[in-house]
Amino acid sequence: MLEAGGISPLAGRRIVLGVSAGIAAYKAVEICRRMVDAGAFVSPVLTEDALRFVGAVTFSALASEPARTSLHEGGETIPHTRLGQRADLIVIAPATANILAKQAAGIADDLLTATLLATRAPVLVAPAMHTEMWEHPSVQENLATLRRRGVFVCEPESGRLAGGDEGEGRLADPSRIIAAAEEILSRGRDLSGLRIVVTAGGTREAIDPVRFIGNRSSGKMGHAIAQVASTRGAAVTLITTSSIPVGAGIEVVSVTTAEEMRLAVDERFSDASVVVMAAAVADFRPKVVASEKIKKHSGAPEIILEPTPDILSGLGQRKTHQILVGFAAETENLEEYARAKMEAKRVDIMVANDVSDPEAGFEVPTNRAILLDSMGSHTRTPLMSKMSLAEVILDRVAVRLGRANNRESQ
Ligand code: C5P
Repeated sequence: MLEAGGISPLAGRRIVLGVSAGIAAYKAVEICRRMVDAGAFVSPVLTEDALRFVGAVTFSALASEPARTSLHEGGETIPHTRLGQRADLIVIAPATANILAKQAAGIADDLLTATLLATRAPVLVAPAMHTEMWEHPSVQENLATLRRRGVFVCEPESGRLAGGDEGEGRLADPSRIIAAAEEILSRGRDLSGLRIVVTAGGTREAIDPVRFIGNRSSGKMGHAIAQVASTRGAAVTLITTSSIPVGAGIEVVSVTTAEEMRLAVDERFSDASVVVMAAAVADFRPKVVASEKIKKHSGAPEIILEPTPDILSGLGQRKTHQILVGFAAETENLEEYARAKMEAKRVDIMVANDVSDPEAGFEVPTNRAILLDSMGSHTRTPLMSKMSLAEVILDRVAVRLGRANNRESQ
C-alpha cells in the first residue's frame, strides 16, 4: 500500500529484519530486497540456525549494512542497543515457534533476541511453522502475550509446507508482510506529545473485609487502548483494577474502588489531553463497610447502597481542552442510550457495545462497537480484536485532535 504520490512509508526508515530458522527464510531475501527498493535502511539480523537455510552473504549484498548474527562480531561492543534504539520498526520473518517463545519470555541469548529487548520500536512478526506447531497452545499463548504487549502479527497462510505437507502455518506472502510494515509505519507515532489517561477494569466496592460488589469487566479493552496509545507515541497513564501486564513506558496506577479511581483521574486531569474512561465503574457501593467479616449465622445482611461519584460526568463539567472518551455497555437500545449518555456526561466520543453479545464486551478478547462522536459522526465496527478496536478508537481521537493527517512518524 503506497501513500499518495507513490512514496512508500518505508522510505528513509530504519528497519531491523530478523530472520529465524525456518525453511521460509529464503523468502526473507525477497522481503529484504523489497524493503531496500522502497527506500528503507535495512539491517538484517539472522539467528545462528537461520544460517543453515540462507547465507548471510546474500543479505549483506542486498541490504543497507552487513548481515549480523552474533553479539560479538565486527568489533562493535553493544550492537543490539544500537540496532534496537535506532530502529523505526523490527520485522521478524519468518518467526519460528522458538523465537516467539523467547520473545514472550524476554530471553536475550543472541543478537536478535537481545535487540528485541533493547527497542521501543514497533515489532511485526510473521510466524511460519508446521500446522501442529502453529496450533499448539504454547505457541498461541505466546502470540497472545506478544499481541497484548502491542506486537503486530502477520498471520501465516494455508498452503504447502516443508517436507511436502499442506496446512496452515506457511509464511505470509512477502507482499502482505511489506503491506503490514507500511501500515505500521504510516500510522507511526501520531499521538506523540500527548498525555493520555486511560482507566480500565471493574471497580470493587467493599461490603466487609472479604466481600465486595464488583462486575465482570476484565480490563482487556482499557489495557489494549493504553498499549496502542503508547505504541503510537503518547505518554500514557493507565489507572486500572486489573493486573494484565502492559509494556514498559506506561505509567500504571493500581486502584480498587471508584473513589480511588476518581482521585487518581482527577489528579492527572489538568495535564491530560485525552481521558479514556474504559473502566466499568460501580454505580453503587455499600453505605457502611463492616469492619469485621459478616458472619453467616447472623442471617442475611441488609446492605444499603449509595451512589458512587460519576467520574466521567465530573470530568465533563470541568473539561477545558480535553477530549473525553466514554464507554456505554448496554444490553438494549444501544445507540439511543449511548447517545443520551454522551450528551448528559458531555463526552466527545462514546464507544457503545452490546454486552449481551457473547463475542463482544466483558472478558472476551474481541469486541464490536458503535462509535458516536459529539460532532455527529457515527461508525459501526465489525467484530475485531480489542487491540484493533483500540486502533479505531484512537484514530477517532486523532481526528478530533487534528492529527489524522499527521500519521507519518514525527
Ligand atoms: O452511565 P454509565 O455507567 O453506563 O456510563 C459509562 C461510562 O461512564 C464509562 O465510560 C464509565 O467509565 C463512566 N463512569 C464513570 N463513573 C461512574 C460510572 C461510570 O466515570 N461512577
